[in-house]
Amino acid sequence: MMAGLISTCAFIILCCLSGPCFGSRKLLVFLIDGFRYDYIDELDNMPGFREIVDNGVKVDYITPEFPSLSFPNYYSLMTGRHCEVHQMTGNYMWDQTSLKEFNIGTNPDSRLPTWWEGSEPLWVTMQKLKKDVYMYYWPGCDVTILGVRPAYCKQPESDKPEKRLTDAIEHALNALNRGQIAMATVYYENIDVEGHHHGPQSSQVKTAILNLDIALQTLNRKIEEKNLQEDLNVIMFSDHGMTDIQWMEKVIELQLYINMSDIIKMMDRGPVVSLWPKPAKFESVYRNLSIARNMKVYKKPEIPQRFHYKGGKFVAALTLVADPGWFITESIAKLPYWQNGTGNGWQRGWHGYDNEFVDMRGFFLARGPDFRKNYKAAPIRTVDVYNLMCSVLGIQPLPNNGSWSRVEYMLSGAATQSPPFLLGTAASVLLALVLTF
Ligand SMILES: *[C@@H]1O[C@H](CO)[C@@H](O)[C@H](O)[C@H]1NC(C)=O
Ligand SMILES: *[C@@H]1O[C@H](CO)[C@@H](O)[C@H](O)[C@H]1NC(C)=O
Ligand SMILES: *[C@@H]1O[C@H](CO)[C@@H](O)[C@H](O)[C@H]1NC(C)=O
Ligand SMILES: *[C@@H]1O[C@H](CO)[C@@H](O)[C@H](O)[C@H]1NC(C)=O
Repeated sequence: MMAGLISTCAFIILCCLSGPCFGSRKLLVFLIDGFRYDYIDELDNMPGFREIVDNGVKVDYITPEFPSLSFPNYYSLMTGRHCEVHQMTGNYMWDQTSLKEFNIGTNPDSRLPTWWEGSEPLWVTMQKLKKDVYMYYWPGCDVTILGVRPAYCKQPESDKPEKRLTDAIEHALNALNRGQIAMATVYYENIDVEGHHHGPQSSQVKTAILNLDIALQTLNRKIEEKNLQEDLNVIMFSDHGMTDIQWMEKVIELQLYINMSDIIKMMDRGPVVSLWPKPAKFESVYRNLSIARNMKVYKKPEIPQRFHYKGGKFVAALTLVADPGWFITESIAKLPYWQNGTGNGWQRGWHGYDNEFVDMRGFFLARGPDFRKNYKAAPIRTVDVYNLMCSVLGIQPLPNNGSWSRVEYMLSGAATQSPPFLLGTAASVLLALVLTF
């Protein structure tokens, strides 16, 4: 009996020395772009979501990082770091030194290491540890970061979004089930797209959510069919929420305040705009924009500390931040319309505002053997998710800005060890056992 116990303990120690051992289960991650926290307030007609909520953890909401835009938050989710630390500070960025641009991942220069190597994302860490990661439609999975790519990066095809999603679920579950990979990540865009085009309250968003729910019903069924309930953790979250905008009344036209030829570079439009004025005109541009209503203009050092943004190396000399619902553009003519089939459609929803604005909040759900069941948890922040993922994967997290105490209580059983102390805890468990006998 005693010998058995000691050899078990020796095994635990050995396994911990050769790599993390607690909570090293497989993980399936879903990033649902633009899914606001309150889209699942009412779970009637949503059996897919309901089953996950009943069998797992639901947090009230997740507060995004500033700016509440996609790429900055994708990277905070995967690094646990504020934007000024990982350097992915916008959907559109300009490098004043090389004069290169990052245009929401679409231009070839978006793949330059400079945008991505400010921090090491989780999937790169895992690949370095020889734990394979499959990524589906995930922005940046086709970029070589710190010399590494994921084992598999599926690019979006022209299929319907729901078909893409269910194909990814089937492919990922099979790879996880075969023990071929440690983690799969799936990105889903459609809720964000409909939210921009029609607004967060629209029937189009409601329909998109119901279609997503059907895919989640398929997910739940397949987890059972493949007998993965005790083997697989599932985490799903969004990068930010969505709020209504009215282009009729709430547009701020920069050309009314400044001569645009005094601006060397302008990046993005909407809630957050980056401006690099000609040095000789800097003060005059700043003064003129300071009188504009419904927005704030910040010189780089004056950006509020709480945004954890101003230290970013791609942050502009002037950052403009609109009040909720307002939209900053050079001129009405340059508003980003979308092709709605018959003409230039108006955008009805947007995000990117102050990250504390309630409509910017996202959602977070988790289920699986390492999570509590039917558990309602207090709010967390985007930077907190990384430690949680590392913990259930049994990976040592890199230094980050997440709070372990905000997420720890979601975990059940052994996985509640704080990741940085895995080894120490295992050693003290052994010591305690040896002393007991
Ligand atoms: C600021 O506004 C004043 C008054 O409208 C204008 O004369 C001046 O050219 C503006 N400055 C810049 C840099 O656009
Ligand atoms: C804007 O600046 C350019 C270049 O300095 C100048 O030629 C032009 O007249 C200015 N426009 C206005 C409306 O002041
Ligand atoms: C598309 O946009 C055009 C031009 O703004 C508008 O007249 C039309 O009603 C829109 N159609 C739909 C289906 O939204
Ligand atoms: C965020 O994390 C980085 C990396 O550990 C650290 O250097 C930085 O000081 C942290 N920032 C804050 C505000 O805690």
